[in-house]
Amino acid sequence: MIQALANDRLLRALSREPVDRTPVWIMRQAGRYLPEYRATRERAGSFMALCTSPELACEVTLQPLARFPLDAAILFSDILVMAHAMGRGLSVEEGEGPRIARPVASEADVRSLPVPDPDDKLRFVLDTIALIRRELHGRVPLIGFAGSPWTVATYMVEGRSSVDFARIRGLLQAGPRTLHALLEKLARATIRYLNAQIAAGAQALMIFDTWGGVLATPDYLEFSLAYMEQILAGLARQSEGRRVPVILFTKGGGIWLSRMAATGADALGIDWTIELSAARNATGDRVALQGNLDPALLHQPPEAIRPGVARVLESYGHGHGHVFNLGHGVQPHTDPEHVAAMVAAVHELSPAFHA
Ligand code: CP3
Repeated sequence: MIQALANDRLLRALSREPVDRTPVWIMRQAGRYLPEYRATRERAGSFMALCTSPELACEVTLQPLARFPLDAAILFSDILVMAHAMGRGLSVEEGEGPRIARPVASEADVRSLPVPDPDDKLRFVLDTIALIRRELHGRVPLIGFAGSPWTVATYMVEGRSSVDFARIRGLLQAGPRTLHALLEKLARATIRYLNAQIAAGAQALMIFDTWGGVLATPDYLEFSLAYMEQILAGLARQSEGRRVPVILFTKGGGIWLSRMAATGADALGIDWTIELSAARNATGDRVALQGNLDPALLHQPPEAIRPGVARVLESYGHGHGHVFNLGHGVQPHTDPEHVAAMVAAVHELSPAFHA
């Protein structure tokens, strides 16, 4: 199915082609800050029931687009459905975060992990993508995603969100063979999974490396970046007659941007700790940049949000290749009206940077 896109600003900006204004979407745009999301989650009964129902997952994917004039939809799912597909058991309880029922602890555990067939074990995601594409009618592109092998591995080994990553760091220090075997399997599984997302209709991809930033530089290169590079090399980068751009996001990765730009990614996600001007200098216009308003600024009144948006746009400066976003996911207690103010400010202020 080749369907013309009514709004292709996101795809153009990710390929550093000219746009009339800076495209904008929001990490975690479908989430708990929206009352309509909380209502649908309630109706689903659990987070996993929501993720595994294509109808409900499609519904929440489209909710932020009904409220705000955004330039992209992002698949509603989670990076940890990979742990579910590998048979380790995933649940997400209100206020507790994700739990893996059977964490990976030993070399034997890693050896027993399957590389899941996405058409079988992750069918619900592929069906959701196809349904979202039908419901979008080409209004905006759909972003698919996966976690980086390192970040998914942190949850599979720790069993939950961690503050010190003691277990996986232990595995890394103890002789990294087991950890490399796990990461290698996750990379292979993720290549199959993301290619299946493209075949189902994803028009851009994002790889979330939320925890790469906790590593020492040599460890980041060996245990996180190398596996993301493998994934990039294994992806079909063309679909429906267009490039499928890939965004790489390592939270806390500001010091590694030039190495990240050398992986073959089309764009880098930038967190709020580094200025876009510095990120642009570091990457020398080899990639597009996405970000990076501090999500905490959205707790301020709209009068304070507008100058914050202006600072981000000015920091990137004149020219194409910028996708406006937050530096990390929108926080659950954010007022949706403040999000509306941010999006409106991008619409009003950004055309000047493309004239
Ligand atoms: O951005 C979107 O709107 C698409 C959906 C999406 C979710 N998770 C839905 C979700 C995406 C892209 C993710 C990615 C994800 N999941 C990451 C990487 C991005 C990041 O934020 O760093 C990570 C680390 C996870 C793992 C995860 N899933 C955590 C830590 C939690 C609980 C804490 C939290 O931030 O909410 C989840 C659950 C989750 N995934 C929720 C949502 C909307 C909240 C679940 C609920 O309804 O209670």
